[in-house]
Amino acid sequence: MTEHFDVTGGARLAGEVQVVGAKNSVLKLMAAALLAEGTTTITNCPTILDVPLMADVLRSVGCEVVLEGDVATITTPAELSHRADSAAMGKLRASVCVLGPLVGRLKRAVVALPGGDAIGSRPLDMHQNGLRKLGASSEIAHGCVVAEATGLHGAQIWLDFPSVGATENILMAAVLAKGTTVIDNAAREPEIIDICLMLQRMGAQIEGAGTSTLTVQGVDELRPTTHQVIGDRIVGATWAFAAATTRGDITVRGVNPHHLDLVLEKLRVAGADVTTYDDAFRIVQHDRPKAVDFVTLPYPGFATDLQPFAVTLSAISDGTSMITENVYEARFRFIDEMVRLGADARTDGHHAVVRGVERLSSAPVWASDIRAGAGLVLAGLCAEGTTEVWDVFHIDRGYPHFVENLNRLGAHIERVEHAPDRA
Ligand code: UD1
Repeated sequence: MTEHFDVTGGARLAGEVQVVGAKNSVLKLMAAALLAEGTTTITNCPTILDVPLMADVLRSVGCEVVLEGDVATITTPAELSHRADSAAMGKLRASVCVLGPLVGRLKRAVVALPGGDAIGSRPLDMHQNGLRKLGASSEIAHGCVVAEATGLHGAQIWLDFPSVGATENILMAAVLAKGTTVIDNAAREPEIIDICLMLQRMGAQIEGAGTSTLTVQGVDELRPTTHQVIGDRIVGATWAFAAATTRGDITVRGVNPHHLDLVLEKLRVAGADVTTYDDAFRIVQHDRPKAVDFVTLPYPGFATDLQPFAVTLSAISDGTSMITENVYEARFRFIDEMVRLGADARTDGHHAVVRGVERLSSAPVWASDIRAGAGLVLAGLCAEGTTEVWDVFHIDRGYPHFVENLNRLGAHIERVEHAPDRA
């Protein structure tokens, strides 16, 4: 069955929304469960499509996985398979995060190349180079990463770029290597801190979580644990942009506002009233937003995942914005869809120039990835008429109860099911 969303423009969103655990954390925490024999429990899991897909990946190497509500219970056997090449592997990017734990525990792994969002070139060279430094061979053969080692030893590793996935994979292999590993130019995302916390609870010795230098003292074995996933800052920011874009008033609960310091500052400059609390924040936008420039960078810079929302906000702002994409070049495909909705925008290499218009106009548009899909829904909310957003399965990969939450905030969105030949 194919589905699309009918999004009726014109609503001002207001109310409260609860954000649950981060997609980009839970999937890696599930992979980390491979490192310890026994039962690991992960709470505050989001009910998104990628979680059962990751569960299938873990089952394919021998784990038992039970998903009940927001709890994932993963039982890892003493004997694991080193082959992760099930069909689920190709459906999400995070599946590659089983590579580090399998190499760490079994000293060998055959891991199918991952899938996920089509947002630009996504090589694995830094993952492979890191594993090689730890003493494993690593090559691509028959669509899989094949890694093998007689033993893993600590090493000094410098990443060319603070890659989130490479930091996680190298970290999860290094925790069981002999000796000390130092990962320099490591990613500093809150999701990296989350996985370090879980690994520490499992008995790993890691220093420097949240800084550019991670120091890992390898241990012989890890034990299972219980861990609560951090709130999804990308989903939280989506609601923040939803408030600013629709001149609304939204209180977002379940996200640490410090994970969004730069985002909230940008929205203040755009004219929003921003109030922060311990684990929540409120955005109120009274007038038409003022144009603001955005530059995507690794954390604590402005997240590339939020670039579509920056474009959407700019499209209806007063003035001209320059948006610079430094992480995933293909993300600007989103702008072609925004032009269908009447945005005055054009791209030149890494830059997009967006001249704000008073109002967008509805059109059929196609989501190319999770965040682009959510961005098009926000754009549809400020377009005249009813916008059809297609390929919404992307949105379901990252946003639990998206339509229900939007409608509770006052939007008019309908999920429409029909036969595939309509697509
Ligand atoms: C993660 C997030 C994704 C987010 C991205 C950047 C998950 C499941 N996905 O993706 O939502 O957009 O971080 O914040 O957590 N690179 C290389 N070689 C490598 C690895 C990466 O050149 O070996 C490049 C990539 O092409 C990209 C940049 O490094 O240009 C950042 O990628 P990375 O941080 O690794 O992103 P992911 O972990 O794949």
